Amino acid sequence: MKDTALRIAGFKDSIFGVISRLARENNAVNLGQGFPDFDGPDWLKDIAYKKMQEGHNQYAPFSGTPYLRQEVSNYYKKFYGLNYNPESEITITVGATEAIYLVINALINPGDEVIVLEPFYDSYVASIKMAGGIPVPVTMHAPDFTIDQKELEAAVSPRTKLLILNNPHNPTGKVWTKEELTAVSLVAIKNDLYLLSDEVYEFLVFDGLKHLPTAALEGMMERTITISSAGKTFGLTGWKIGWICANQKISNACRLVHQYVTFAVSTPMQEAVAEGLKQLPSYLPGFVTLYKNKRDYFYQELRSLGFEFSIPKGTYFMMVPISKHTNLNDVDYSMKLIQENKVATVPPSAFYLKSTEGEKYLRFCFAKKDETLKQAAINLNSL
Ligand SMILES: Cc1ncc(COP(=O)(O)O)c(C=O)c1O
Repeated sequence: MKDTALRIAGFKDSIFGVISRLARENNAVNLGQGFPDFDGPDWLKDIAYKKMQEGHNQYAPFSGTPYLRQEVSNYYKKFYGLNYNPESEITITVGATEAIYLVINALINPGDEVIVLEPFYDSYVASIKMAGGIPVPVTMHAPDFTIDQKELEAAVSPRTKLLILNNPHNPTGKVWTKEELTAVSLVAIKNDLYLLSDEVYEFLVFDGLKHLPTAALEGMMERTITISSAGKTFGLTGWKIGWICANQKISNACRLVHQYVTFAVSTPMQEAVAEGLKQLPSYLPGFVTLYKNKRDYFYQELRSLGFEFSIPKGTYFMMVPISKHTNLNDVDYSMKLIQENKVATVPPSAFYLKSTEGEKYLRFCFAKKDETLKQAAINLNSL
C-alpha cells in the first residue's frame, strides 16, 4: 500500500490521549485532561434542548447563525470596547481548534515561518505543519514564563508571517500584563506580522484581574486575529462552538477554508451559545468564584506537599515545578505518579520544540469536582 501524506509525517497520538488511557488502566485520579469532570449549567442545556424543539436543526449559514455572530459582536463591544461587524468580521467554527486550523491555512504558504511561544497548545504546531509552514519557537522562560525580547526579535526573519500568542495561557496559567503584550505587539507591528491571539480562557482570570484582548492594544486591531470559544466559559467543552474575529479580508480567507473543511457548525448549539453569551454579566461572577475556590484549595494542597510556585492568575491549569521532589524528567515522573500515587497529570515537555525547561514541570488541571481534587490530594500525600 502507498504511504500516507507527508504533511502528517511525525504526527503521533497526542499526549492527552496517552495519559488518559494510562489513567484509566491504573485507576488514577485524572488531573491531566483539560476539561471539567462536572457538567455545565442546566439552564444552558435546557436552552439547547429548547432550540432543537423550536426547529433549529438544519444547516446553519456557513459563517455562523446571525444570532450568534451578533451576540459575539455584542460581548466584544460590551466587555472590551471592540467593534467587530457580525456580517463580515466574525466567523463561527467547530471550537477554537477549527479556528486555529482555518487561520493558519488561510494565511500561511509553504515555507512561511510562524513564531510560537512555547509551551504552546499542541494544535498550533500541527496546523502550521499541515499548511507547509515552519514553526519557530520562542521560549517563555520559567519560573515566570516571560519572553526575552531579544530572543523574540531574533526569531523574526523575512519569511515570518504570523505570531501566535495565548492569553490567558495554557499550560502555565499566566495572564500576560499589558506591558508584556505591548512588547510582543510592537514586534508584530515593526515586522508587519499577523498576530493570532488565542483567548479561549478570557473569562477565567482571578484576583480582580481583567482580560485584555491583544486586539485592544494600540495599532493591533487590524493585524490581530482573535479566537475564542464557548467550551471553557460555560464548562461545556463538548459543544465545540468557537469563533474568529478579524478584519474582513482575513475573515473572508478563513471562511473560504471553513466552507470546505466543516462548512457549517451545529445550529442548535450556536443558538444556545448566543443565549449564553447574553447572560455573561450575571453568569460570570459565580463561574469565576467556582474555579477560584478550586484553584485556592488545590494550590494550598500542593504547597503543603512542598511544591513551590506562584499561584496561577488564569485558566484552570497549574504548571508545577518537580525538581524538589525528584530527579526524574516530567514524562517519567508523571508515569510514576500515575502508577504509584494514582494521580494523572500532563508532562509539559510535549508543549515545547526547543527548550528542555518543561522537563522540570507537570501540568495539573484543577477543573475538577471538589471530591476529585480532594482524592488527588490524598493520593499525593505519600510524596
Ligand atoms: C489554549 C487553547 N486553545 C484552544 C483550545 C481548543 O478549544 P476548543 O475546545 O474550543 O476547540 C484549547 C483547549 O484546551 C486550549 O487550551
